[in-house]
Amino acid sequence: MKVLNFGSLNVDYVYSVDHIVQGGETILSSKREAFCGGKGLNQSIALARAGVPVYHAGAVGTDGQMLLDACKENGVNTDYIRTLPVPGGHTIIQVDAKGQNCIILYGGTNQMQTEESIDAVLSNFSEGDYLILQNEVNLLSYIIDKAFERGMKIVLNPSPYDAQLSGCDLSKISLFMLNEIEGEQCTGVSDPDAILKELAAKYPGSATVLTLGSKGAFYYDGKEKVFQDIFKVKAVDTTAAGDTFTGFFVASLISGKTPAECLRIAAKASSIGVTRPGAVPSIPTIREVLADL
Ligand code: RIB
Repeated sequence: MKVLNFGSLNVDYVYSVDHIVQGGETILSSKREAFCGGKGLNQSIALARAGVPVYHAGAVGTDGQMLLDACKENGVNTDYIRTLPVPGGHTIIQVDAKGQNCIILYGGTNQMQTEESIDAVLSNFSEGDYLILQNEVNLLSYIIDKAFERGMKIVLNPSPYDAQLSGCDLSKISLFMLNEIEGEQCTGVSDPDAILKELAAKYPGSATVLTLGSKGAFYYDGKEKVFQDIFKVKAVDTTAAGDTFTGFFVASLISGKTPAECLRIAAKASSIGVTRPGAVPSIPTIREVLADL
């Protein structure tokens, strides 16, 4: 069984600010740093640091060497990452004094997948292999359809939620990993219980992990329901907390752990991640997570 993550790779430009800038306002930032990020890359690195070998597929641009280096340093396979002669994906992230962030995303090469490049990647995978997806690459619907035809198990983190997702056949998803905002966007209901029930009714056979920020996280597969509280810490930067959670949950599931064990490991991993700045640099290793669990 192989694990493929077809997703974004971004250079995150992180500006430290007192508060998130308001419309019409100009503020001075105290620091600017460049980190490796992108929901796709963050989740691949979380899987790798959780001990699961992963192939990453996607595209970087002329500024993407640091992203490829991060993959290699963490043991993420880069055979299916193309380098294109144009600027790659990047973000402008403000992090305020409380560790909260807001993000402007430039898609760049993440939005340059083609049907041919997708077919070429998927031809290396088959029934029972896992595919992890987020919503920062184009042709998501095509990727889902083709991977499903091959019998792959598809995990979808529908983030950031936008119109592309309404064109996807979500009945082909085995596991949804989402937060309460994305849960409401997918189902039209806002109560966590109602989101879980709605997804289970709409997509029987799928399971859902619903994260609720400081209120913990639920797993529900239509029969078994599990709740996990947060591990309380002082956050300095919440960027990639959700990606760390997703990577560690999926890695634990693939390693044969129960949903309750998976949730506990994922919650611990993301609680460590938010105490550190940046996306990729903040993601802990499984050794750090288990040492304090
Ligand atoms: O989830 C965090 C990520 O979202 C950042 O690393 C940024 O690149 C955006 O994709």
